[in-house]
Amino acid sequence: MNAVFNLSALSSSLKESLEEIGGAKTSQDLEAVHSKYFGSQGIFSSASKSIGSLDKEKRKEAGEFFGRCKKEFDAAFLKKKEEVEAEEEREKLLSERVDMTLPFTRFPMGSLHPVTLVQREMERFFMSLGWSLGDGPEVEHAWYNFDALNFPPDHPARQMQDTFYMAPEESNLVLRTQTSSTQVREMISSPLPLYTASIGRVFRSDTLDAFHSPVFHQCEGLAVDEGLSVADLKGVLEALVSSLFKKKGDVRLRPSYFPFTEPSFEMDMLLEGSGKWVELGGAGMVHPNVLKSAGVDCEKYTGFAFGIGIERVAMLKYGIADMHDLVEGDARFSHQFAMGD
Ligand code: DAH
Repeated sequence: MNAVFNLSALSSSLKESLEEIGGAKTSQDLEAVHSKYFGSQGIFSSASKSIGSLDKEKRKEAGEFFGRCKKEFDAAFLKKKEEVEAEEEREKLLSERVDMTLPFTRFPMGSLHPVTLVQREMERFFMSLGWSLGDGPEVEHAWYNFDALNFPPDHPARQMQDTFYMAPEESNLVLRTQTSSTQVREMISSPLPLYTASIGRVFRSDTLDAFHSPVFHQCEGLAVDEGLSVADLKGVLEALVSSLFKKKGDVRLRPSYFPFTEPSFEMDMLLEGSGKWVELGGAGMVHPNVLKSAGVDCEKYTGFAFGIGIERVAMLKYGIADMHDLVEGDARFSHQFAMGD
């Protein structure tokens, strides 16, 4: 038994264990030291188990000795444990540190293009009147773009709008030159009476300059009902202008010519306080031949229609001087108008 409870062996083990505690760098190191000396196979555990079988007077001495060793070991162990854990915590915090002052990559918010803003505003206006919103293809059959709208086959009016023709020629497809191409589609597909507006892209072989673009947007309004007159047309246009520009607007109709309206007008608007008439688009009473193209009884129904350039409205509304700004797609440009939608 004395061989197991060997005071000098335990003393040197204690010394060794204290040195190992001193040299421990991590809590794992420390745990390893603990189990080496006090684990089930550890020298102190075996010593402690053997105390009971010692002679009485030896037992007391051994018990006290063991107690001192354990106390010394525990004190050194706990002290070191605190140090190591504090250091580990510090390292963990350092490694998880987030530098709140570091610059980061900003992703600017996108914003709607002024043409889209005007389009949405117009659509809301027409919906508020209870009109439907229509749509039509951009690659359109020449019949809807011209013939059905009373453009005779070789009439110079076809050249009024420089048309992009699709190949092959026999396809009779064009890039629509005007949203008026939706008129006959709408009349064919919807029951009467009909109140509808359609906004979309149109194409003409123009060169881009401050006022023109080969691709632009139009708003087409069409109403077909019994007893409609130019007064109704003018009323809708004035309400539209006042709503778009948030000011009372007057509309003036000047005689003009379009194959699909009779009478036809150029329309100008005058905003309260501006003192200047500005051109806004074309309008008129739907030509009986157009109603006939759609199978509408032109003895019973009359209609009015109008076409307004969206870019033009956007330029007037937002004070944009050059078409280039509208088509170049610089996000910083759109950003200036990014409010209210
Ligand atoms: N489509 C015509 C254009 O692009 C504009 C227009 C004029 C539309 C008179 C109409 C209208 O509906 O009645 O020049």
